[in-house]
Amino acid sequence: MLSKNLHFEPLTAVHADDLFAILTTPSVLAFINPTGRRPTLEELRAEYTARASGPVAPIIPAEKWFNMAIRLKAPSSKVIGRLEATSYGQWGEVAYLLGQAWWGKGLAFEAMHWWHDYLAAAMPGVQWWATVHPDNQRSLRLLTRLRYKEVNSSQRPRLQSYDLGDRCFVLSNHVREYTA
Ligand SMILES: CC(C)(COP(=O)(O)OP(=O)(O)OC[C@H]1O[C@@H](n2cnc3c(N)ncnc32)[C@H](O)[C@@H]1OP(=O)(O)O)[C@@H](O)C(=O)NCCC(=O)NCCS
Repeated sequence: MLSKNLHFEPLTAVHADDLFAILTTPSVLAFINPTGRRPTLEELRAEYTARASGPVAPIIPAEKWFNMAIRLKAPSSKVIGRLEATSYGQWGEVAYLLGQAWWGKGLAFEAMHWWHDYLAAAMPGVQWWATVHPDNQRSLRLLTRLRYKEVNSSQRPRLQSYDLGDRCFVLSNHVREYTA
C-alpha cells in the first residue's frame, strides 16, 4: 500500500528491529512513554506478533486493531514509523510515531492522511479520536493540519490512550454524547 512518498505494510514481528531503534530514542518517547520501562527487543517482537493476531481481551466485543509499519518508498528503506488504530464500534482511537530523523518533512501528515482513507474504507463511519500530551507541540500541529477538533476531555469516550491532563481531539464536526 502506497502514498506519494511512503509504503505501508501490516505490522508484524519482522518490523521490531527497526522500530526498536526508534522506540529507544528519548525524543520519540518524551510524550508517549516518558517514565515507563523500555521494552527489550524480544518483548517488542512478542508484542508485534500479538498485535498481528488482534485483540486478546477486548474491552468491548466490537474491538478491532489496525497496525501498520511505515517505510519510505525508496528501495530497501528501513521502517521509519508506525500507525495504530483501535475501533470500538462507532468510535476509535488513532496513534502515530515516526523516528526523529523523519520529522519536519510532512511525512507524518502524509501517513495519517493515508491512514484515515484506509480506515474509512475498512471501518466506514467510525469517529476517530486522538489524545495528546499538552506539551507535544508537533503532535498538536499535526492534528490541527489533519482537521481534528479539540474536545473538552470530559466529553471523551472510554479512550484507552488517555492520561490525566491529555488534550482530546476528534476527527468530526459532530461530537456525539459519550460517557467516559
Ligand atoms: C508527532 C509526530 C508524528 C509529528 O511529526 P512531524 O514530522 O512534525 O509532522 P508532519 O508530518 O505534520 O510534518 C510537519 C512539519 O513538516 C514540515 N513540512 C515540510 N514539508 C512539508 C510538506 N510537504 N507538507 C507538510 N509539512 C511539511 C512542516 O512545515 C512542519 O514543520 P514544523 O514542525 O517545523 O512546523 C512526530 O513528532 C513523532 O513521531 N513524535 C514522537 C511520537 C509522538 O509523540 N506521537 C504522537 C503521540 S500523541
